[in-house]
Amino acid sequence: MSFRVASTVALPSRSATTLTDLGIDLVPARGVTELRTLGELGAVITTITDPVDEAAVAELHAQGVRLVANVGVGHNNIDIAAASRVGLSVTNTPDVLTDATADLAMALLLDVTRRVCEGDRLVRGGRPWSWAFDFMWGSSLAGKRLGIVGYGRIGEAVARRARAFGMTIASSSRRPRSEPDVEWMPLDRLFAESDVVSLHCPLTAGTRHLVDADRLRSMKRTAVLVNTARGAVVDEAALVAALGDGTIAAAGLDVYEDEPRLAPGLADLDNVVLAPHLGSATRETREAMADVAVQNVAAFHRGGALLTPVTG
Ligand code: DGY
Repeated sequence: MSFRVASTVALPSRSATTLTDLGIDLVPARGVTELRTLGELGAVITTITDPVDEAAVAELHAQGVRLVANVGVGHNNIDIAAASRVGLSVTNTPDVLTDATADLAMALLLDVTRRVCEGDRLVRGGRPWSWAFDFMWGSSLAGKRLGIVGYGRIGEAVARRARAFGMTIASSSRRPRSEPDVEWMPLDRLFAESDVVSLHCPLTAGTRHLVDADRLRSMKRTAVLVNTARGAVVDEAALVAALGDGTIAAAGLDVYEDEPRLAPGLADLDNVVLAPHLGSATRETREAMADVAVQNVAAFHRGGALLTPVTG
């Protein structure tokens, strides 16, 4: 029987061709529920909105699946411990989305601090306006401190961009020796002393609601929070309250606790910019992500080493 791979992701044609050229049978699926109806499969390609929980792991394993190639760097949608217990390998797509996600973090930061979306609403809304000395002041980035939570590839790429805007960089994560200008400080101090806090940590049991009401209260009243990581790293209800009563100045969000649902009141606030989880959404990046997933499937099929295994 041929090696069958089901994908919940509509693969770009060049990735799909890579599989078919290898004689792999590619089966489209609308989601995890459908995957479980497709009979014998060797591997599945999923993405960050597909819940591969313990029950799904068991069922996929029973169907013969031995690899879940997740399209996305985040893999909190998959029960990795359950997968490793049954010998199911999991891969993700790091690196290729680093620049796109860092670009979006900067886009949110610039938008929030210079009030671009707010201004767009004003202009489109037909409200009267004209240039005036004291009209719609924002705040500058130069000379401000950016506190990065999660100094991995994406955090580092955001730091690179922020330096070009004249910001100083602080982080609470490990210090890479190659970046002596990054000021390392404990998390509590990072929140208390940063002008902007940008989140780049994975969602784990330890980071869920890392930014809660207390943490928000510890921030400067002029501070901005940017989240392109995972929504549940922030207690969204607490954030709505903090933005509403001026505990912090503003926020730029690409991710939400219960996507695509928003916490009540969030969309009514003028001091928040809301993007619909666009971090990696450039054509080049999404094609590269699909390629990485497919290369993992190809490596698995020929019995080689996986390119980007998730190890727990
Ligand atoms: C990821 O890959 O985890 C991103 O959130 C997708 O945009």
